[in-house]
Amino acid sequence: MTQVLVVYASRHGATRGIAQRIGDVLRSEGLDVDITRADEAVGVGAADAVVVGSAVYMGSWMKEAIEFVKRNEVTLAERPLWFFSSGPLPRSSMGKGQGVDPLTDSLGPEDGPGSGGRKKVTEISATTSPKDHRVFLGAFDPDDPAKVTSERLVRMLPAVKKALPAGDFRDWDAIDAWAHQIAATFATPVASA
Ligand SMILES: Cc1cc2nc3c(=O)[nH]c(=O)nc-3n(C[C@H](O)[C@H](O)[C@H](O)COP(=O)(O)O)c2cc1C
Repeated sequence: MTQVLVVYASRHGATRGIAQRIGDVLRSEGLDVDITRADEAVGVGAADAVVVGSAVYMGSWMKEAIEFVKRNEVTLAERPLWFFSSGPLPRSSMGKGQGVDPLTDSLGPEDGPGSGGRKKVTEISATTSPKDHRVFLGAFDPDDPAKVTSERLVRMLPAVKKALPAGDFRDWDAIDAWAHQIAATFATPVASA
């Protein structure tokens, strides 16, 4: 049976939920799925394919996800690989521009000011060649306290407070559809008569 490893980095749980949902869909399609936190994932093991996702904060993937990919880049480059980002909140001016492509909206521009986080993701993509990098809307609960100092400070800025709409905007239909697309790449073609 095809084994798929789903690895995620999540600070407040939204990305974990997306990873679990992707895993559920892949299982429903008959695949053998392991779902693991990026900082606990020892390696790729016997997985035939890997999905890696991260929450995006201030235009950057979480370091656990970046480090997982770097630690395993040789193996990941040899296996089918998909990336996803759990990021923008709708109407958020954390988004990096109206009408820009989803990666830029979430991770910022490819070059120039504010491109540091995007560049790291571009680098790990260049070394591992994911088949796709999908951006999903995320979630933000202002009552869930910041988990790291940088987030606490950023959330105190009045401009950021205004910019972050509260709510769970995860688009389960889009997430399901993407997971079904991944599963379809493993479907055995029906032998012609
Ligand atoms: C302080 C702060 C900064 C954020 N910065 C970004 C960002 O730069 N780009 C983006 O797409 N989403 C950004 N978001 C939205 C989060 O990525 C989104 O809420 C995500 O789903 C959180 O995932 P988690 O619950 O797994 O940590 C930010 C959220 C907060 C609270």
